Amino acid sequence: MRKLFIAGNWKMNTNTDEAVSLLNELIPLVSDVQDMDIAVCPPFVYLHKAVYLTRNSNIRVGAQNCHFESKGAFTGEVAPEMLKDIGCTYVIIGHSERRHIFGETDDVIHSKVKKALDAELKVILCVGELLEEREAGKTEIVVETQLIGGLKDLSSEDLDRITIAYEPVWAIGTGKTASPDQAQEVHAFIRSWLKNQYNENVSGNCQIQYGGSVKPENARTLLEQPDIDGALVGGASLKAASFAAIVKAAR
Ligand code: 13P
Repeated sequence: MRKLFIAGNWKMNTNTDEAVSLLNELIPLVSDVQDMDIAVCPPFVYLHKAVYLTRNSNIRVGAQNCHFESKGAFTGEVAPEMLKDIGCTYVIIGHSERRHIFGETDDVIHSKVKKALDAELKVILCVGELLEEREAGKTEIVVETQLIGGLKDLSSEDLDRITIAYEPVWAIGTGKTASPDQAQEVHAFIRSWLKNQYNENVSGNCQIQYGGSVKPENARTLLEQPDIDGALVGGASLKAASFAAIVKAAR
């Protein structure tokens, strides 16, 4: 059976004191949770501290992005090997804010996924449609194109280290969550795509998270859906109590 996986994407939020307090509050709140994957993804500059603070806990640390080269003249970029070096377990790749604000293409995202896997990180690959794409009935084709682009040439073994996060762009930071049925429909589509593209094993084992205005109040009904294996939480991950409540709702 797939383990549930709840991850907090802090985006560009917190300062040192807030990051430290958030983690120090969160660690005891979820310390009794077993058989579930839990991660936090702070901004780059707080990753080192987060790894240190969570070292004896059941919380793993991920980055929100990485570059697609190991080193060199790439001013301002961070290599996946560096993330691995400081103790990160995960990296989020292809978040809609990277795609739409920073213009990341499926090709760039694919290079990042490959390089992150080479560096022995686990990848959370984000996919999801814009509101106008949903309204035009293009959700599946958009998601499929992003899956094909991001996962091109990856083996079944590589897929062991990939989590897919379905994040409809219209639900991110808007308070407008996809209904459990809407989310389940796309999750089931992703799972059947994985079965056709790989095999039953890959499709059965791959964790598919939902992201977009997940809160303690709506987490349970989303997570009860058969193909929703967790959540990628933005705003509600910035308060220890609400992130912990989402983790508990998942049990
Ligand atoms: P919100 O939970 O703030 O809508 O953000 C979702 C998200 O983008 C997580 O990556």
